Amino acid sequence: SPAHSSDMPSYSIASIPADGIGPEVIDAGITVLKALADTLETFRLDFTHYDWSSDTYKKTGEYIPDGGLDRLKKHDAILFGAVGSPDVPDHISLWGLRLAICQPLQQYANVRPTKVFRGTQSPLRNCAVGDLDWVIIRENSEGEYAGQGGRSHQGRPWEVSTEVAIFSRHAIERIMRFAFETAQQRPRKLLTVVTKSNAQRNGLVLWDEVAKAVAQDFPDVTVDKMLVDAMTTRMVLKPESLDTIVATNLHGDILSDLAAALAGSIGIAPTSNLDPTRQNPSMFEPIHGSAFDITGLGIANPVGTFWTVVEMLNWLGEKDAASKLLECVENVCEQGVLTRDLGGNATTKEVTEAVVAEIRKLG
Ligand code: NAI
Ligand code: MG
Repeated sequence: SPAHSSDMPSYSIASIPADGIGPEVIDAGITVLKALADTLETFRLDFTHYDWSSDTYKKTGEYIPDGGLDRLKKHDAILFGAVGSPDVPDHISLWGLRLAICQPLQQYANVRPTKVFRGTQSPLRNCAVGDLDWVIIRENSEGEYAGQGGRSHQGRPWEVSTEVAIFSRHAIERIMRFAFETAQQRPRKLLTVVTKSNAQRNGLVLWDEVAKAVAQDFPDVTVDKMLVDAMTTRMVLKPESLDTIVATNLHGDILSDLAAALAGSIGIAPTSNLDPTRQNPSMFEPIHGSAFDITGLGIANPVGTFWTVVEMLNWLGEKDAASKLLECVENVCEQGVLTRDLGGNATTKEVTEAVVAEIRKLG
């Protein structure tokens, strides 16, 4: 109501839908956010759209124009679709746009919650709603994706390449603190530290040592340590034994895709790229990529983006609105309004409209 409008918090959101199904799911996410803001009347959102994508790269040779990062920094949060195009090599698109935002903005914590929604099914036998409810925290600034390395003698039979993994005490410590804090805020207070310190005897031994030191400051959190290969089997065989998980950049990337599939589909899972110091805006995106195989068909699952905007609202401090929206999304899943990847036949638009209808009931 106008009487409250002056003290209503207002957030400026940068949207970067980018490639493939990115624009389809971001459009759905914004529709739902606008309906929520409209119905609850407790906060305001304003969106600025950036058309940075593989199309702009093909036209201009750049994903992010001059001064682009400075423009992004002025927003409260960034909503990102997906980047990747069949005619641009994936390492160019990933480093040109997504990593070109995450790394300079020091979004060092990549957070990936996963659970089985009411009305959906895990591909695992005997995995009910509630049995799989995890948060994976992935180190997002260095490790195996630090970008260190090179190639010599390109194209020759004696060609060599290096891909050097970087593990700094500083970056390990900050991600461990963030992971322990996350575990501490969840009911089970259980943190699994994923490692590979048997084979990777330098970087990941430091990783284990720092985890152990940080654990001293969190006596109420139970810690357990898992080698990454054994972790994959535990995720499949004993999903209920896990809660909060911390892993390196590469390990976290792989485990979180596995987690999304175990929860039912890659189409439902969100990712937050957080700067926990809040000096820079954080970036929120569905975990999936640009999915060329279904682009333009109108069947992309928008639920991953809906959960993504829930995480964004949480980070902005709108926790009540966030939990209400997640509830609406789960209600729609329970009603059986599901896209094909979840075994249904609803379109992106139909799922979006069903969620908007649930939101209107909050008013
Ligand atoms: P992908 O996630 O785009 O697709 C994998 C499979 O899942 C496809 O069969 C796709 O149709 C399906 N899928 C994905 N999202 C879905 C949704 N919302 N609803 C229904 N089905 C969905 O991964 P892929 O195929 O490995 O990569 C395609 C492109 O995306 C590549 O260029 C890759 O580099 C890029 N990519 C970008 C990411 C990002 O921007 N964060 C993350 C992952 C991949
Ligand atoms: Mg991935």
